[in-house]
Amino acid sequence: MTEQSQAALLQALEKLTDGREAMVTVVPGRITIVGDHVDYAGGATLCGAIDMELAVGISVAGAGMWRLLLPSGAGGSGSRVEEREELWLDGGYADTAFATLLGMEQAGFSFPPLEMAVVSQIPPGAGLSSSAALCCGISLAVARFTGVGMTAPQLVAQAQMVENDILGVPCGTLDQTAIVYGRKDELLLFDAGKEQTASVACDMSGYRWLLCPTRKKHSTGGKEYRERRAQLEAAAAELGITSWREVQEEDLRRLRNPLYRSRARHVVTETRRSLEAVEAARSADFGQLGALMLESHSSLSQDYEVSTAALDTTVGAAMGVQGVMGARLVGAGFGGCVLALCEMSAVQPCRIAMSSAAGVPPEWVVQVNLTEGLAMRYPESVRPG
Ligand code: GLA
Repeated sequence: MTEQSQAALLQALEKLTDGREAMVTVVPGRITIVGDHVDYAGGATLCGAIDMELAVGISVAGAGMWRLLLPSGAGGSGSRVEEREELWLDGGYADTAFATLLGMEQAGFSFPPLEMAVVSQIPPGAGLSSSAALCCGISLAVARFTGVGMTAPQLVAQAQMVENDILGVPCGTLDQTAIVYGRKDELLLFDAGKEQTASVACDMSGYRWLLCPTRKKHSTGGKEYRERRAQLEAAAAELGITSWREVQEEDLRRLRNPLYRSRARHVVTETRRSLEAVEAARSADFGQLGALMLESHSSLSQDYEVSTAALDTTVGAAMGVQGVMGARLVGAGFGGCVLALCEMSAVQPCRIAMSSAAGVPPEWVVQVNLTEGLAMRYPESVRPG
């Protein structure tokens, strides 16, 4: 988060709270390098926390009402304040924030009505985990505020519970894990099946990550995400398996339904690619890492069918630029961003190629860096599990 954004947040908070003392918690977004749509199937993902961030400021409410200052662009044009006497949900944008507070009450934290302000550089619906960042951010803000703190696994589970059980979004734990366990200048291997994380050193000298938004927003709460999970469960039932990790590509021939076969092929091959990508990143083999990103995109597009025409065209445009090693959609798909890995000299041509393919201004294509997650930032409040 830039100093400018932090200053803007503090100013907004000060206005909201009449100058009462406030506490600020800054949360990163995340990218996936290889390994999407596998977390809920016990697969592995190479991911990282990024320096596109969200900040939550909280303070005790003067008038005893819950008050939330939302950033401009969050479900309305200008910034606005939502006020509630009780913590209830109304189906609007502010629900994620209020649901997270409800979740913390349910988890046994005790706190008075709060005033909160949120500023965010993580665009909603871009596949960069804006919702998980908000859920993790508000949960941690409350945990810090009460002085009780949480363990890292607790924070991941708490933020996922809010999305799954209170908001009805059937997400896995990839986003929360990257946000909590990310490391500065390092990638993170998240193995959902083994419930393990490991940091992956990757010397990026001479290379950069570029993100290009497409014009369509995605939603993990939409019916497509739920449908993919159901198809995979049906495929697992047909194969009679309890873990996708026992399945080899040749076993997939046993699936009679071609749709289930493609969905399952994505999951099985994607985890293999993620593990190969870890090796490629560790040995700074960017040719191989880029090739795996591109294979992952094809699998997400053809076998898992979560890409869009704009995402495919933008990936194609990036790959047409010399010095671009790989490109793929990032996150759940159905819209959102393309992530490209390119040599430093290719940053500008890649920016131009992707922005013109996606139909967005070149300045919307941004470089991102890997940054530290919440466990590293707030070690006094996020204890190791
Ligand atoms: C969303 C979900 C994650 C994960 C990704 C796809 O971000 O929240 O749990 O399934 O999609 O990899």
